[in-house]
Amino acid sequence: MTALTPDEPLQAFDDQTWRDVVAAMDRTYSELVDYQERLEAQNRELDEMRQFMGSVLSSISELLIVVDRTLTIERTGGAFSAILGLETALEPDTPLGALLDAKADTVLRGVITEAMRDRRPRVVEVGFLTPDGPTPLEVSVSPRLDQRGRSQGVVLVGRPLGELRNAYRELEASHTALQNAQAQLVQHEKLASLGRLVAGVAHELNNPISFVYANTHALEKYTRRFETYFDAVQAGKSRPELVALRDELKLDRTVKNLRGAIDGAKDGAERVRDIVEDLRRLSADGSGEKVRFDVVQTARTAADWVVRGTKTPVRIAVYGAEQACAIGNPGHVQQIVMNLVQNAIDALADTTDPLVTLSAKEHEGKAVLQVTDNGPGISNTDATAIFDPFFTTKPVGKGTGLGLSISQKIAQENGGTLTLARTGPDGSCFELSLPAGDPE
Ligand SMILES: Nc1ncnc2c1ncn2[C@@H]1O[C@H](COP(=O)(O)OP(=O)(O)O)[C@@H](O)[C@H]1O
Ligand SMILES: [Mg+2]
Repeated sequence: MTALTPDEPLQAFDDQTWRDVVAAMDRTYSELVDYQERLEAQNRELDEMRQFMGSVLSSISELLIVVDRTLTIERTGGAFSAILGLETALEPDTPLGALLDAKADTVLRGVITEAMRDRRPRVVEVGFLTPDGPTPLEVSVSPRLDQRGRSQGVVLVGRPLGELRNAYRELEASHTALQNAQAQLVQHEKLASLGRLVAGVAHELNNPISFVYANTHALEKYTRRFETYFDAVQAGKSRPELVALRDELKLDRTVKNLRGAIDGAKDGAERVRDIVEDLRRLSADGSGEKVRFDVVQTARTAADWVVRGTKTPVRIAVYGAEQACAIGNPGHVQQIVMNLVQNAIDALADTTDPLVTLSAKEHEGKAVLQVTDNGPGISNTDATAIFDPFFTTKPVGKGTGLGLSISQKIAQENGGTLTLARTGPDGSCFELSLPAGDPE
């Protein structure tokens, strides 16, 4: 193209050419603007991504170190400064070894080399240097790979072991506290059963004792009459006088009553003796000795004691076999039946005409005892949990939730089972099954 001189008219481009040039410039300009906008958008995304990564990295409570293949620190994050007690940022290109003593450096270097070689993470315990001396950290070492899967270095994530150890200690402490609380509850349940037993026994003893007492009282009265009569005889009273006195003192009837009073006192004393005998058998528990005994008799005694110890007026009915012989520890079985009857009585609080039925049978080498009540029954959900320790639907202070679980355990120790045989709106039935003993 020849250069234009100022005095030559602008003839070189016609109008069309100018229009093309302008259009081309417009296009280029708008492409540039597009490009600029795309760049800006990408920049914004990058910025957001960087902020996001930064916030994630700094919110990690562990110490985070990224090192390259030469073990030079590329980046740190998480609680890096806080854990290592650093007040200023690291110099660029600080080697990892600067954070460790010589021994820890050797250990960590070895682990990192292995992790980079087989591209598998490792966990190692190493001490990092801090102003307060070496702090042990549990460090996980994960290899860092590029897009083609080549090893680029590793990422180290460290957690102070002191914290872990503290957490473990706290866990231990609360575990011990829990165990103590459980032991206390078990103790409480034992005391509660003992309380029920004592209440029942006290009630049971009260009857024959007052019987003995009333009869001794009568005997005393009779004795006074005879003394009066003998005094008159001694004083040499005349026969008609003595006959009159004998009538007045009702001595003929008194002689007859005397026998009755003596028998009554003897009966009462014998009843007391029987109760003491029952108690002795119950406390023979610890021996773990197994004997042959009648489940019906044992269940009756147990139920009587519970009923006598409660204020709820409840009827006890006994059906089925008159005797069912089992082998086991009668004291244990008595304790189980007392628990079952107590539960039944608790459940019967709002039932009109409350009734607890005991029925026994011998069946396929087992002595089976059922304790049934006509209470409100147990819901399906509760039924799955009643044998769990500490499951109770009773208010605090009333139930410990241990009765059934302990009873079940005792049944098992005696080679038997304790189950909920059935339950419904008409009541519940618990079944205790024990190895049968041949009757003597
Ligand atoms: N005969 C029964 N009728 C209704 N519910 C019962 C009966 N026996 C046991 N339960 C339920 O089983 C729960 C657990 O019983 P238990 O282990 O003896 O503990 P606790 O009597 O201390 O609550 C009771 O709280 C009650 O909800
Ligand atoms: Mg109970």
